[in-house]
Amino acid sequence: MRIVLLGAPGAGKGTQCKHIVVRYGLLHLSSGDILRQERAAGTELGKKAQSYMDSGALVPDEIIVEMMAGAIKKAPEAGFILDGFPRTVNQADELDKSLASTNKKIDAVLNLKIDDRIVAERMTGRRSCPQCGAVYHIENLKPKVEEICDNDGARLVQRPDDSPEVVANRLKTYHQQTEPVVDYYRNSNNSAVYDIDANKDADEVSVLVFEKLDALVKT
Ligand code: AP5
Repeated sequence: MRIVLLGAPGAGKGTQCKHIVVRYGLLHLSSGDILRQERAAGTELGKKAQSYMDSGALVPDEIIVEMMAGAIKKAPEAGFILDGFPRTVNQADELDKSLASTNKKIDAVLNLKIDDRIVAERMTGRRSCPQCGAVYHIENLKPKVEEICDNDGARLVQRPDDSPEVVANRLKTYHQQTEPVVDYYRNSNNSAVYDIDANKDADEVSVLVFEKLDALVKT
Protein backbone atom coordinates (compact mmCIF):
# COMPACT_ATOMS: atom_id res chain seq x y z
CA MET A 1 0.00 0.00 0.00
CA ARG A 2 1.35 3.44 -0.92
CA ILE A 3 -0.17 6.35 0.98
CA VAL A 4 0.22 10.13 1.02
CA LEU A 5 -0.67 11.91 4.27
CA LEU A 6 -1.53 15.57 3.73
CA GLY A 7 -2.36 18.24 6.30
CA ALA A 8 -1.36 21.60 7.71
CA PRO A 9 1.58 21.97 10.09
CA GLY A 10 0.51 20.42 13.40
CA ALA A 11 -2.42 18.51 11.89
CA GLY A 12 -0.93 15.40 13.50
CA LYS A 13 0.73 13.77 10.48
CA GLY A 14 3.72 12.47 12.44
CA THR A 15 1.51 11.39 15.35
CA GLN A 16 -0.81 9.35 13.11
CA CYS A 17 2.06 7.86 11.09
CA LYS A 18 3.47 6.22 14.23
CA HIS A 19 0.28 4.14 14.54
CA ILE A 20 -0.28 3.57 10.81
CA VAL A 21 3.18 2.04 10.23
CA VAL A 22 2.70 -0.43 13.10
CA ARG A 23 -0.75 -1.54 11.92
CA TYR A 24 0.04 -1.92 8.22
CA GLY A 25 3.81 -2.63 8.19
CA LEU A 26 4.62 0.42 6.05
CA LEU A 27 7.80 2.50 5.91
CA HIS A 28 7.31 6.03 7.33
CA LEU A 29 8.98 8.60 5.10
CA SER A 30 8.77 12.12 6.55
CA SER A 31 10.39 14.78 4.38
CA GLY A 32 10.68 17.10 7.42
CA ASP A 33 12.43 14.41 9.50
CA ILE A 34 14.83 13.57 6.66
CA LEU A 35 15.68 17.27 6.24
CA ARG A 36 16.27 17.65 9.98
CA GLN A 37 18.58 14.60 9.92
CA GLU A 38 20.52 16.11 7.01
CA ARG A 39 20.86 19.36 8.94
CA ALA A 40 22.01 17.60 12.09
CA ALA A 41 24.62 15.72 10.04
CA GLY A 42 25.82 18.99 8.47
CA THR A 43 25.42 17.76 4.89
CA GLU A 44 25.30 20.04 1.83
CA LEU A 45 21.61 19.24 1.43
CA GLY A 46 20.98 20.15 5.08
CA LYS A 47 22.82 23.46 4.68
CA LYS A 48 20.82 24.32 1.55
CA ALA A 49 17.52 23.56 3.34
CA GLN A 50 18.26 25.49 6.54
CA SER A 51 17.18 29.04 5.67
CA TYR A 52 13.95 27.88 3.99
CA MET A 53 12.94 25.74 6.97
CA ASP A 54 13.78 28.40 9.56
CA SER A 55 11.57 30.96 7.83
CA GLY A 56 8.62 28.60 7.21
CA ALA A 57 9.10 28.53 3.42
CA LEU A 58 9.29 25.39 1.30
CA VAL A 59 12.64 23.93 0.29
CA PRO A 60 12.93 24.06 -3.56
CA ASP A 61 11.16 21.23 -5.40
CA GLU A 62 14.26 19.90 -7.20
CA ILE A 63 16.05 19.26 -3.87
CA ILE A 64 13.02 17.58 -2.28
CA VAL A 65 12.01 15.45 -5.27
CA GLU A 66 15.48 13.93 -5.59
CA MET A 67 15.76 13.37 -1.83
CA MET A 68 12.38 11.62 -1.59
CA ALA A 69 12.90 9.53 -4.73
CA GLY A 70 16.03 8.11 -3.08
CA ALA A 71 14.14 7.34 0.13
CA ILE A 72 11.19 5.70 -1.67
CA LYS A 73 13.52 3.27 -3.44
CA LYS A 74 14.36 1.74 -0.04
CA ALA A 75 10.70 1.01 0.84
CA PRO A 76 9.67 -2.62 1.49
CA GLU A 77 7.18 -4.52 -0.70
CA ALA A 78 4.41 -3.73 1.86
CA GLY A 79 4.73 -0.06 0.84
CA PHE A 80 5.19 3.34 2.45
CA ILE A 81 3.44 6.34 3.88
CA LEU A 82 4.66 9.78 2.81
CA ASP A 83 4.41 12.46 5.51
CA GLY A 84 4.98 16.04 4.34
CA PHE A 85 5.60 15.11 0.71
CA PRO A 86 4.38 16.03 -1.88
CA ARG A 87 3.78 19.60 -0.79
CA THR A 88 3.40 21.32 -4.18
CA VAL A 89 1.50 20.28 -7.31
CA ASN A 90 4.83 20.00 -9.10
CA GLN A 91 6.15 17.58 -6.44
CA ALA A 92 2.96 15.49 -6.76
CA ASP A 93 3.32 15.36 -10.51
CA GLU A 94 7.00 14.32 -10.28
CA LEU A 95 6.09 11.64 -7.74
CA ASP A 96 3.36 10.24 -10.01
CA LYS A 97 5.73 10.13 -12.98
CA SER A 98 8.45 8.42 -10.98
CA LEU A 99 6.03 5.76 -9.63
CA ALA A 100 4.44 5.25 -13.06
CA SER A 101 7.86 4.41 -14.50
CA THR A 102 7.73 1.20 -12.41
CA ASN A 103 3.94 0.65 -12.88
CA LYS A 104 3.12 1.89 -9.40
CA LYS A 105 0.82 4.58 -8.04
CA ILE A 106 -0.36 6.24 -4.85
CA ASP A 107 -3.29 4.12 -3.60
CA ALA A 108 -4.73 6.54 -1.07
CA VAL A 109 -4.43 10.12 0.08
CA LEU A 110 -5.42 10.95 3.65
CA ASN A 111 -6.21 14.64 4.04
CA LEU A 112 -6.05 15.68 7.72
CA LYS A 113 -8.31 18.73 8.04
CA ILE A 114 -7.69 21.08 10.96
CA ASP A 115 -8.73 24.64 11.92
CA ASP A 116 -5.89 27.19 11.87
CA ARG A 117 -6.56 28.28 15.49
CA ILE A 118 -6.00 24.70 16.75
CA VAL A 119 -2.70 24.51 14.85
CA ALA A 120 -1.25 27.34 16.96
CA GLU A 121 -2.11 25.55 20.26
CA ARG A 122 -0.56 22.30 19.09
CA MET A 123 2.66 23.83 17.79
CA THR A 124 3.44 25.96 20.84
CA GLY A 125 2.94 22.91 23.09
CA ARG A 126 4.95 20.45 21.01
CA ARG A 127 8.21 19.06 22.43
CA SER A 128 10.51 16.64 20.57
CA CYS A 129 13.36 14.35 21.53
CA PRO A 130 16.59 15.50 19.83
CA GLN A 131 17.92 11.91 19.90
CA CYS A 132 15.09 9.60 18.79
CA GLY A 133 12.65 12.16 17.31
CA ALA A 134 9.72 11.13 19.58
CA VAL A 135 7.04 13.83 19.71
CA TYR A 136 5.17 14.96 22.84
CA HIS A 137 2.81 17.76 23.84
CA ILE A 138 2.87 19.66 27.14
CA GLU A 139 -0.90 19.10 27.61
CA ASN A 140 -2.10 16.35 25.26
CA LEU A 141 0.80 13.88 25.27
CA LYS A 142 3.01 14.34 28.31
CA PRO A 143 6.17 12.32 28.88
CA LYS A 144 6.28 10.29 32.13
CA VAL A 145 8.87 12.70 33.57
CA GLU A 146 8.41 16.36 32.64
CA GLU A 147 10.66 17.49 29.72
CA ILE A 148 12.41 14.05 29.52
CA CYS A 149 12.00 11.54 26.67
CA ASP A 150 10.37 8.23 27.75
CA ASN A 151 12.52 6.29 25.25
CA ASP A 152 16.06 7.45 25.94
CA GLY A 153 16.07 9.96 28.82
CA ALA A 154 17.16 12.89 26.59
CA ARG A 155 15.94 16.40 27.50
CA LEU A 156 13.08 17.42 25.19
CA VAL A 157 13.41 20.49 22.99
CA GLN A 158 11.09 22.85 21.11
CA ARG A 159 11.52 22.88 17.34
CA PRO A 160 12.98 26.24 16.21
CA ASP A 161 10.29 26.55 13.53
CA ASP A 162 7.49 26.25 16.13
CA SER A 163 7.74 29.95 17.15
CA PRO A 164 4.42 31.82 16.57
CA GLU A 165 5.89 33.94 13.71
CA VAL A 166 7.28 30.95 11.80
CA VAL A 167 4.10 28.89 12.41
CA ALA A 168 2.08 31.75 10.86
CA ASN A 169 4.34 31.61 7.79
CA ARG A 170 4.15 27.83 7.58
CA LEU A 171 0.35 28.02 7.63
CA LYS A 172 0.35 30.66 4.88
CA THR A 173 2.70 28.49 2.80
CA TYR A 174 0.42 25.49 3.40
CA HIS A 175 -2.74 27.30 2.21
CA GLN A 176 -1.03 28.76 -0.86
CA GLN A 177 1.10 25.85 -2.06
CA THR A 178 -0.02 22.59 -0.44
CA GLU A 179 -3.84 22.79 -0.35
CA PRO A 180 -3.93 22.66 -4.18
CA VAL A 181 -2.26 19.23 -3.93
CA VAL A 182 -5.53 17.84 -2.50
CA ASP A 183 -7.37 18.94 -5.65
CA TYR A 184 -4.58 17.53 -7.80
CA TYR A 185 -5.30 14.08 -6.32
CA ARG A 186 -9.10 14.56 -6.37
CA ASN A 187 -8.90 15.33 -10.09
CA SER A 188 -6.70 12.35 -10.89
CA ASN A 189 -8.49 9.04 -11.15
CA ASN A 190 -5.57 7.09 -9.71
CA SER A 191 -5.83 7.64 -5.98
CA ALA A 192 -8.69 7.52 -3.44
CA VAL A 193 -8.83 10.75 -1.39
CA TYR A 194 -10.21 10.63 2.17
CA ASP A 195 -10.90 13.76 4.24
CA ILE A 196 -10.30 13.17 7.96
CA ASP A 197 -11.42 15.50 10.76
CA ALA A 198 -8.10 16.14 12.54
CA ASN A 199 -9.56 18.59 15.09
CA LYS A 200 -10.55 15.58 17.23
CA ASP A 201 -8.20 14.05 19.78
CA ALA A 202 -5.43 11.81 18.49
CA ASP A 203 -7.10 8.46 19.31
CA GLU A 204 -10.35 9.49 17.61
CA VAL A 205 -8.41 10.58 14.52
CA SER A 206 -6.66 7.18 14.45
CA VAL A 207 -10.04 5.41 14.49
CA LEU A 208 -11.18 7.45 11.45
CA VAL A 209 -7.90 6.74 9.62
CA PHE A 210 -8.00 2.99 10.35
CA GLU A 211 -11.62 2.77 9.11
CA LYS A 212 -10.54 4.10 5.73
CA LEU A 213 -7.33 2.09 5.43
CA ASP A 214 -8.86 -1.19 6.68
CA ALA A 215 -11.52 -0.86 3.96
CA LEU A 216 -8.81 -0.21 1.37
CA VAL A 217 -6.80 -3.25 2.44
CA LYS A 218 -9.90 -5.47 2.04
CA THR A 219 -10.56 -4.34 -1.55
P1 AP5 B 1 7.61 19.15 8.53
O1 AP5 B 1 8.49 18.60 9.56
O2 AP5 B 1 6.97 18.24 7.55
O3 AP5 B 1 6.54 20.04 9.27
P2 AP5 B 1 4.96 20.22 9.05
O4 AP5 B 1 4.31 19.66 7.86
O5 AP5 B 1 4.80 21.68 9.21
O6 AP5 B 1 4.36 19.29 10.07
P3 AP5 B 1 4.73 19.11 11.55
O7 AP5 B 1 5.82 18.10 11.69
O8 AP5 B 1 5.00 20.46 12.21
O9 AP5 B 1 3.34 18.64 12.15
P4 AP5 B 1 2.59 17.24 12.13
O10 AP5 B 1 1.38 17.36 11.26
O11 AP5 B 1 3.51 16.09 11.88
O12 AP5 B 1 2.09 17.24 13.64
P5 AP5 B 1 2.56 16.36 14.89
O13 AP5 B 1 2.07 14.97 14.75
O14 AP5 B 1 4.00 16.59 15.20
O15 AP5 B 1 8.38 20.25 7.65
C1 AP5 B 1 9.24 21.22 8.26
C2 AP5 B 1 9.83 22.11 7.16
O16 AP5 B 1 10.63 21.31 6.25
C3 AP5 B 1 8.82 22.82 6.24
O17 AP5 B 1 8.35 24.04 6.81
C4 AP5 B 1 9.66 23.03 4.96
O18 AP5 B 1 10.52 24.13 5.10
C5 AP5 B 1 10.50 21.77 4.89
N1 AP5 B 1 9.84 20.71 4.08
C6 AP5 B 1 9.38 19.51 4.54
N2 AP5 B 1 8.83 18.80 3.52
C7 AP5 B 1 8.94 19.57 2.40
C8 AP5 B 1 8.54 19.40 1.06
N3 AP5 B 1 7.89 18.29 0.64
N4 AP5 B 1 8.79 20.41 0.18
C9 AP5 B 1 9.44 21.52 0.57
N5 AP5 B 1 9.85 21.76 1.84
C10 AP5 B 1 9.59 20.77 2.76
O19 AP5 B 1 1.66 17.07 16.03
C11 AP5 B 1 1.91 18.38 16.47
C12 AP5 B 1 1.66 18.46 18.00
O20 AP5 B 1 0.28 18.27 18.27
C13 AP5 B 1 2.40 17.39 18.82
O21 AP5 B 1 2.82 17.95 20.03
C14 AP5 B 1 1.35 16.30 19.05
O22 AP5 B 1 1.58 15.59 20.27
C15 AP5 B 1 0.07 17.11 19.08
N6 AP5 B 1 -1.08 16.42 18.47
C16 AP5 B 1 -1.06 15.67 17.33
N7 AP5 B 1 -2.30 15.23 17.04
C17 AP5 B 1 -3.11 15.71 18.02
C18 AP5 B 1 -4.52 15.60 18.26
N8 AP5 B 1 -5.34 14.95 17.41
N9 AP5 B 1 -5.02 16.24 19.35
C19 AP5 B 1 -4.20 16.93 20.17
N10 AP5 B 1 -2.87 17.06 20.01
C20 AP5 B 1 -2.33 16.47 18.94
